[in-house]
Parts: sequence; structure tokens; C-alpha cells
Amino acid sequence: MKLPQLPELPLFHTIADAAGELGYPAYVIGGFVRDLALERPSKDVDVVCVGDGIRLAQAVGQRLPSRPRVTVFKNFGTAMLPTPEVEIEFVGARKESYRAESRKPEVEAGTLEEDLARRDFTINALGLSLNPEDFGALVDRYDGIGDLRRKIIRTPLDPDITFSDDPLRMMRAVRFAAQLNFDIEPDTFDAIARNKERIKIVSQERITDELNKLILAPKPSYGFKLLFSSGLLQLIFPRMAQLQGVEKRGQHAHKDNFYHTLQVLDNVAEAGGDLWLRWAAILHDIAKPATKRFDPRVGWTFHGHEDKGARWTPAIFTDLKLPLGEEMRQVQKLVRLHLRPIALVKETVTDSAVRRLLFEAGDEIDRLMLLCKADITSKDHQRVARYLRNFERVEEKLKEVEEKDHLRNFKPVITGEVIMQTFGLKPSREVGELKEAVLEAILDGKIRNEYEEAFAFLLQQGQAKGLPQGHHSLTK
Ligand code: CTP
Repeated sequence: MKLPQLPELPLFHTIADAAGELGYPAYVIGGFVRDLALERPSKDVDVVCVGDGIRLAQAVGQRLPSRPRVTVFKNFGTAMLPTPEVEIEFVGARKESYRAESRKPEVEAGTLEEDLARRDFTINALGLSLNPEDFGALVDRYDGIGDLRRKIIRTPLDPDITFSDDPLRMMRAVRFAAQLNFDIEPDTFDAIARNKERIKIVSQERITDELNKLILAPKPSYGFKLLFSSGLLQLIFPRMAQLQGVEKRGQHAHKDNFYHTLQVLDNVAEAGGDLWLRWAAILHDIAKPATKRFDPRVGWTFHGHEDKGARWTPAIFTDLKLPLGEEMRQVQKLVRLHLRPIALVKETVTDSAVRRLLFEAGDEIDRLMLLCKADITSKDHQRVARYLRNFERVEEKLKEVEEKDHLRNFKPVITGEVIMQTFGLKPSREVGELKEAVLEAILDGKIRNEYEEAFAFLLQQGQAKGLPQGHHSLTK
């Protein structure tokens, strides 16, 4: 790790000049400095000045050739300046803590020292000077650089104080640990366990925001283990915590579904799965505790956990304030179908079974296959290898059938409209049955998904049911 250095941008000199003129000591601060040190891609720049942040923003805006418009957030006492390179947020140093939700218009001005002390973690309390006398110098009052080197998340003050200033920081500690692969320093971790109940005063949106960032970490299981061992998970997402544990009867013990779920989640993450595929991994076995039964002949069963899990998905998304649109429906579909590809492995893989799967999964087929493959976890390596080999056969077959029949975005050529016209029927159960019969025949491979063939089949079906065919035509 190297020491953070201000990037060579005229912009920083412009800020320094404006701050100098106003007589405000100014510093680049927080996440931007941390990410410079870690050589992570940098995002927005935060600037703290000992003075009026909004005035500084306006002064800088006037000096920039692009003449950007300053956006003022009066309630927060901050101002945002978009520049061609980055967005810069200006704020005056303050005595009290940084809380996204504190909307107190009056924040008490403070010194740089006070400002740094009320930040969340030592690694986020680093600054780089924008003052003429020591331009670019590092400010590190809490050995944030040492903690970056040691890979430690630690609060600048007594963690009980830092966390009671903003309990969301408990989630942030875990999230940073997962994103950066850092440890949480033991006193800081103990304070999370001690203060966990305070998470209840934080809005669900902020909690979920952190949770999603954690889920997108390279190895999300690490973050979830920290959430679980601190007791936060039991409060913010009890259903997931309930996956933990093993029950044994005689010879029969089931696997620990919490650790299994985490393994699947890591597998999906490693394969480059996006946020929603990761959510599908988290939820794929969520209903196992609720469907668990003991059968003396076969041991533990979880029949129907995939359907129940899919049925729970909207409520879980609602509780967590996750979006309820297309993403939720995708996750729900993946949860519902997650056993299907592996079930195919166990049988002789017939075209018709593959066709059905393709039809039901639609555009989710590739993600479903990825999830299902990720779900193959066992301590027995030979068993995993055998399953994976069989799984490849299913994948090949899938490709074959897909190329031949184009079922992925399958739209039945025989619509309800055609059926009603052909037999002079009104919307009724009979129409639904005929439609279903045509669909089944296509999926079974008896006929192709092609109008003439399907229509001929429909006529046969109608005849068998004794329906009059006065209205039929062969045109679409
Ligand atoms: N901060 C804090 N307490 C919080 C949130 C933020 O002390 N609950 C401070 C930290 O110094 C942090 C800075 O405000 O570095 C900016 O916060 P934010 O943009 O949320 O986080 P970053 O550290 O920039 O990291 P990321 O963008 O990954 O969230």
C-alpha cells in the first residue's frame, strides 16, 4: 500500500486558491483519500473546510472555466459542485457526527480535529491538505494509514460513542470489512454486538443499501458471517439467520443451510453474478426451515421449499424495501426453478424435459443454470465432480434443444383468440384447456411450434371434443 497522494488536477489548486482567499483551511477527506491509498477507483471527492462549505463551493464554482452550477443542500449545510472530472461535495467542519439522516439545519461549526473525531472509521478519517503552506500533506490523526496497512476497521473514538452517533455504522463496519477483506478490530466488534439493538432506529432503506453493498463484495459470505456472529443479522434479516443450525436424529443429520447458502452465494459471486442473482442465491433455500420434516425411512426432507421460497419472495422484498418490479420477479423465478436443472441430471435427460425447462425459465435460463451449478456443494469432492459432469450433459442438451426449437422466448402460435374464432367459443375453461393441450403437444415434441402443424393439431383436439368447426380458417 502506498501513501495517498492528491491526483495532479488543476481543480485541487483552484479549491486551494478559493479557500485561501476566504481564509478557510480546507482538506480533501474521507473515502476519496482512503481509496487513493488503496488504489481503488475513486468516486466523488469530499472537501471539508474550517468555515462555510457552501460559500467555498460557490467561490470555487466561479473560478472554474466550466462555470458549473452549485447545488446547495441547506438542511445538510453542504454543497455539490459537478466538474468535468468528478463531483465535489463541500462541507464545513463540524463538531457533531456525520449522519445522512440528521436533518438538523443548524450544525455546530467545529475544528478539523473535531470533524475527524466524529467520523466513522480511522481509515475514513484521513485528509489531504489543500492549504498553501502544506499543499497535499497527509492528515492522519488516528493512524488510519496504519489500519489500512494492518487491514483493520476501527473507530476513531470509543466505538460505543461512534456507533451511538449513527448506528448504521455497525453495518458499514461489516460492509467495509467485506468489501476490503479487512478484520474488525475486537473492541469495535464487541461494541457492535453490544449495541446491535440500536440498528432498529435506522431506516430500512439505509440498512438495505449497506446490505446490498456487502452482497456485492467479492466474497460476501465473510460479511454475512460477521453479521451473524455480531447478532445484527438476526435483527435485520431473521429469516436468513434461521437457516443456521443442524438437527440430528439417529444417523440422519441435514446440512447447515446457512453455511450452505453462503457457499452458494460465494460461488455465484465468483462466477460474476450480479446483485439479483446473488439475492436468488440468498433466497434459494430460505423456506427450508419452514418445510423441514423428518421421515424415518429417508431422513430429512424439505419438500416444496422452492415454491414456498418463491411465494415468500415478494414479502421479503417488501420488508427489505428492495424494488418490487422485474428484478423481484426474476429472483422469484430463479428461486422457484432452482431445483429443476439438477433434477434433470438425475433422470435420463429427455428433449421434452429440457423443452419444458427452457419454456418456463425463458430469459432466466442462463442465470438459472449458473445458480443451479453454484448450488452443488458437498464436502465429498468426488460427488461434486460427478454431479458437475452430469450437469454439463444437461447444459449440452439445453443448447441442442434451444438451437433446434428456439423455445427461450417461446410464444404459442395458437392464441386464445384463434381458438375462439375457430370453434365459435366464448372465453371459457374449454378455451384454456385447448390452449394447454396445444402447448403440451409442443413441449412434448409431438408437434413443432409452427402455425400449420399446431392448427391441424387444434382441429383434431376440437373434433375429439365434438366441437363444431364452422369458423376455422388456415390464415393467421
Ligand atoms: N461518514 C461517517 N459516518 C457515516 C457515513 C459517512 O462518518 N455513517 C463519513 C466517512 O468519513 C466517510 C464519508 O463520511 O468516508 C463519506 O461517506 P460515504 O460517501 O457514505 O462513504 P465513503 O467512505 O465515501 O465510501 P462508499 O462510497 O464506499 O460508501
